[in-house]
Amino acid sequence: MSFSLKNVISIKDFSKEDINFILKQAKELEPIARSQEMCQTMAGKILGMMFYEPSTRTRLSFETSMKRLGGGVIGFAEAGASSVTKGETLSDTARMVSEYADALVVRHNLEGAARFVSDVVDVPVINAGDGAGQHPTQTLLDLYTMQRVFGKIKGLNVALIGDLKYGRTVHSLSYALGMFGVKMSFVSPPELRMPREIMHDLRHNNVVAQETDSIQEVLDDVDVLYITRIQKERFPDIEEYLRIKGAYRINATMLQGKDLIVMHPLPRVDEISPDVDDTPYGKYFEQAFYGVPVRMALLNALIKPFE
Ligand code: CP
Repeated sequence: MSFSLKNVISIKDFSKEDINFILKQAKELEPIARSQEMCQTMAGKILGMMFYEPSTRTRLSFETSMKRLGGGVIGFAEAGASSVTKGETLSDTARMVSEYADALVVRHNLEGAARFVSDVVDVPVINAGDGAGQHPTQTLLDLYTMQRVFGKIKGLNVALIGDLKYGRTVHSLSYALGMFGVKMSFVSPPELRMPREIMHDLRHNNVVAQETDSIQEVLDDVDVLYITRIQKERFPDIEEYLRIKGAYRINATMLQGKDLIVMHPLPRVDEISPDVDDTPYGKYFEQAFYGVPVRMALLNALIKPFE
């Protein structure tokens, strides 16, 4: 088993073997992620962080991953703290940070930004979310969570719920689940349906994915409810956001007697009631932790250590 990619830009670039390689390595790295063992594979190496959009989990888990592997981290958590404010271009900024670092992690509000950066630098580039495009490392930790909870991915029945139009996490995840033979339900208001090109790609690959606007319709049949936030920041029209927000809310009473887990890429606003958090259903905090071993596995696969 091996890893073939130089950059991590889109989950569509991954083969199933690439994904399985990362999931297997992540399992081996879990004791280091939990600070039960030490590791120095990235000693002397530096990860460059370029975050043009806010982040808690992705940025901090990449930093934790690099440091747990013995490496260092540089970069900025908001463009306002860099020379971008003086008018420096994305291309120049990326080229500069790549002179200081062995790999770059890029989050940007524009779809395609990470791919663009990978075209202008020589070091590996990891897409940490590009607008409403893709979030491939989130997908890897989502798959890892399913595998850890169920012992398998193939054959699961997963409902993706909420903002399927703008949600980059569900865009990436739907392609990956399709690769693993997962039956999917897409639950959203009509205005926030999965983009038609993704539906087309999935159908072209004979992936089973039904669309509905009703959670009740899927609640008895799914293994995973994967809830997403309605993303206010991506709506061109705030009135439309105000009309749709709060369309779906999960609470512990709704879940009673069901045989399923609840996942969420986080942050949540009000789509999952806090009374789900400490039930056996709520897996989203565990899911966020799994970002560390998964991103450690990716860093080990992309950055060549010293001999
Ligand atoms: N899931 C996720 O991408 O979270 P952050 O925006 O906090 O990084």
